Amino acid sequence: MKGFFVSFEGTEGSGKTSIIENVTKHFRSLGISVAVTREPGGIRISEKIRDILLDRDHTEMDPRTEALLFAASRRQHLVEKIIPALDKGDLVLCDRFVDSSLVYQGVARKLGIDAVYEINRFAIDDVLPDLTLFIDVRPEVGLARVFKTPDREVNRLDLERREFHNTIYQGYLDLMERYPKRISRIPGEGSIAEVSEKVIEAIEKLMKGRA
Ligand code: TYD
Repeated sequence: MKGFFVSFEGTEGSGKTSIIENVTKHFRSLGISVAVTREPGGIRISEKIRDILLDRDHTEMDPRTEALLFAASRRQHLVEKIIPALDKGDLVLCDRFVDSSLVYQGVARKLGIDAVYEINRFAIDDVLPDLTLFIDVRPEVGLARVFKTPDREVNRLDLERREFHNTIYQGYLDLMERYPKRISRIPGEGSIAEVSEKVIEAIEKLMKGRA
């Protein structure tokens, strides 16, 4: 495939969305065709699967069902949107991809990274990003950004959220140890402009590497 496939990973408050916007503007201003997407990416079958996943009524959903549905949604988004864009030669920027499942379902839902990778391998048929960027923002910094008012009274749900946040963060650190070549860490606690600059450098390096 002619294009470049870059996925972005991070916890809540990592600023992924704003960073992706900046990076998109930068490459478009250079005349590069950029496809920005996130799962389910407006693909109707994937959107329907997403509705099942997010329905708060579905309290009985089993963690393996959840993992399989994320993988199914990913498959459809990949074949309908990502692969055609890569075939055209686009730079594809995808907000979350397989590593989100490895961390959220594999680590947080305790299915195990290997088991979740296995079903995703079937879903993605070895189409992995050329580069995965983990925007590294420590949990307390990310949550402070989300809460905005750090001295607000912290309730039980907030505490659960912190616990969950720590687990996800630790999960990403483990993934980076496991896949040191595929996943690059971008220090994410600077300004959005600074972090965007680092991301742009990483993508330019990837492009030069293939030139
Ligand atoms: P979203 O609103 O897109 O969150 P964010 O802005 O943090 O990306 O919701 C995506 C949520 O779904 C997020 O909490 C991560 C979770 N998720 C999984 O559990 N597994 C997956 O495979 C993916 C892609 C997302």
